Amino acid sequence: MKLSRSALGVLGASALLASGAGAIDMDINSPESIKKAAGIAAAGLRKWYTGDRPGDVPGNLPDPYFWWECGAMFNAFIDYWYYTGDDQYNNITSQAMQHQIGDYQAFMPPNQTKTLGNDDQAFWGMAAMSAAENKLPDLPDGQGPSWLALAQAVFNTQAVRWNTDACGGGLKWQIFTFNNGYNYRNTISNGCFFNIAARLYKYTNNQTYADWAEKAWNWELAIGLMSQDYHYFDGTDDRQNCSSVNHIQWTYNAGVHMAGAAALWNATGSEEWRTKLLGIINATNVFFKDNIMFEVACESNGKCDVDQRSFKAYLARWMGYTMIVAPWTRDLMMNRMQLSAQAAAKQCNAGEDQQTCGLRWTNNGVNDGSFGVGEQMAAMEIFQNLLIDQVSGPATENAGGISKSDPSAGGEVQSQPITFNEITTGDKAGAGFLTTIVLIGIVAGAWWMVA
Ligand SMILES: *[C@@H]1O[C@H](CO)[C@@H](O)[C@H](O)[C@H]1NC(C)=O
Ligand SMILES: *[C@@H]1O[C@H](CO)[C@@H](O)[C@H](O)[C@H]1NC(C)=O
Ligand SMILES: *[C@@H]1O[C@H](CO)[C@@H](O)[C@H](O)[C@H]1NC(C)=O
Ligand SMILES: *[C@@H]1O[C@H](CO)[C@@H](O)[C@H](O)[C@H]1NC(C)=O
Ligand SMILES: *[C@@H]1O[C@H](CO)[C@@H](O)[C@H](O)[C@H]1NC(C)=O
Ligand SMILES: *[C@@H]1O[C@H](CO)[C@@H](O)[C@H](O)[C@H]1NC(C)=O
Repeated sequence: MKLSRSALGVLGASALLASGAGAIDMDINSPESIKKAAGIAAAGLRKWYTGDRPGDVPGNLPDPYFWWECGAMFNAFIDYWYYTGDDQYNNITSQAMQHQIGDYQAFMPPNQTKTLGNDDQAFWGMAAMSAAENKLPDLPDGQGPSWLALAQAVFNTQAVRWNTDACGGGLKWQIFTFNNGYNYRNTISNGCFFNIAARLYKYTNNQTYADWAEKAWNWELAIGLMSQDYHYFDGTDDRQNCSSVNHIQWTYNAGVHMAGAAALWNATGSEEWRTKLLGIINATNVFFKDNIMFEVACESNGKCDVDQRSFKAYLARWMGYTMIVAPWTRDLMMNRMQLSAQAAAKQCNAGEDQQTCGLRWTNNGVNDGSFGVGEQMAAMEIFQNLLIDQVSGPATENAGGISKSDPSAGGEVQSQPITFNEITTGDKAGAGFLTTIVLIGIVAGAWWMVA
C-alpha cells in the first residue's frame, strides 16, 4: 500500500511538472523571505490534516499516516509559530494535543494501543516539551495537564519500562507484549527518551532527568546502537540479548541525540558533552551530499516509506535547536542548513499550486513527484530553522518558563493498558515499523549495513 502510493505520486507529478513555473523563492539573508517560505510550506502541510473537521478525530492524519507522525507534525507547527510569530495553526495544535492525552495523561490514547510504541508516544511527548520550551500557553485550567507535565508524564511512564530482562537494560520498541516488535530495542525509542530526559533536565534542573539521560546514552553505546564515532544504528533484537545490530542509519536518530547532547551541554557546560556533541555533528556528514541533506538509506533508491519521508524534518528541527542552545555549533552547521534550505525551496515547484515540495533536495531543483506530509514537513522545518536568531531560545523554569511542573505526572503506570479499543486501530504500525522488517531486504549490501 505504501509503495503503490508513492508510485502514484510519481505518475501524478510528471503531468503537473510540465509547466514548472513555481518554486518557492527564498532569500536566506532575509528573515521576512524565510518566514514567507516557511508559511507556504506550512500551508501545504496543513492541507493534509483533516482532524479538525466535524466527525473527524483531532490528532489523527488520514491514511496512510500513522498517529506518531501527527504528533511530529504538531511539533513542527509549534516551532513554526515560535519562529515566525504566525499563530494561525495554534488552535488546531492545542485541540489535537488535548484530544490525544489519553491514559495516564501521557499520550497513550486507547485507540492506539494496538501499535503504541515508546517512540510513537515520545513524538507527542517531544511536541509537548517544545510547547513548554516555546511558551505556548498551557491548556486552560481543568482542560488538561500543562505541556511540561505531559512531557514529564511521558518520561515517567517510560522510565519504569527500562528493561533489564536482557541486554543489560534499554527500552523496548513496543510497550505492550501483544504488539509486533516487542522484542526489538530500537534506537529511536531510546533516543527519544534520552532527548526528553535531557531537555527536562535543562528545563527543571532536576538531576534525576540527567541521570536517566546518561543511563540511556551509556546503554546505547555499550550495546552498539551507537558507535564510538557517534553513528547511530537502527536497533537490535533482545531475544538474542542484543548481540547483533541492524546498522541502517537514519537522519532522525542522529538528530534526536544531537539535540539531547546539546541540551546537556547547555545545562552543564561540560567538556564531556561538548566532545560528544562535536562527534555527533561530525558523524552527520553521512547525511549530506554537497552540503545538502538527504536520507542516505533510502532516498537515492526511491525506497523511503511514508514514515521515512519525514525524517529529514527532525534532523533539521534538532539542528536548529542545537545551534540555539549550543551557539558554538553554528559555524559547523549553518552553512549546510542554508544550502539545504535553498535546495529544498528550489524543488517546491510542483502540484496544483506549483509550490508543493518533493522528497529529494539533491535533485538540482527537479521535483521528484513524491508528495505528502513528510515531504512538506521536511521542507517547512529546513526553512523555519534558519530563523534561530529571531527567538530567544527554549525557556526554562528559571528563565521565562510558564508551564507548570508536575514531577509525578504519569505515575502509577501499569504494564498493561487501562483501556483498550479494538475497533479503530486496524493494522497500523508505529514510528519505527519498517526499521526492522522490510528494510533489511531493501538495502542489503549497502555499506552502512555492514557490521
Ligand atoms: C481555528 O481558528 C480558525 C480561524 O479563527 C477557525 O476557522 C477554526 O474553526 C479554529 N479551529 C479550531 C479547532 O478551533
Ligand atoms: C477514538 O476513536 C473514536 C472512534 O473513531 C473517536 O470518536 C475518538 O475521538 C478517538 N479518540 C482518540 C483519542 O483518538
Ligand atoms: C546480555 O547482554 C548484557 C549486556 O551486554 C550482558 O551484560 C549479559 O552478560 C548478557 N547475558 C548473556 C546471558 O549473555
Ligand atoms: C569525524 O567522522 C569521521 C567519519 O565518521 C571519523 O573518521 C573522524 O574520526 C571524526 N572526527 C571527529 C573529530 O570526531
Ligand atoms: C543555553 O540555552 C539558552 C536558551 O535556552 C541560551 O540562551 C543560552 O545562551 C545557552 N547557554 C550557553 C552557555 O550557550
Ligand atoms: C525530580 O524528578 C523525579 C523524577 O520524576 C521526582 O521523583 C522528584 O520528585 C523530582 N524532584 C524535585 C525536587 O522536583
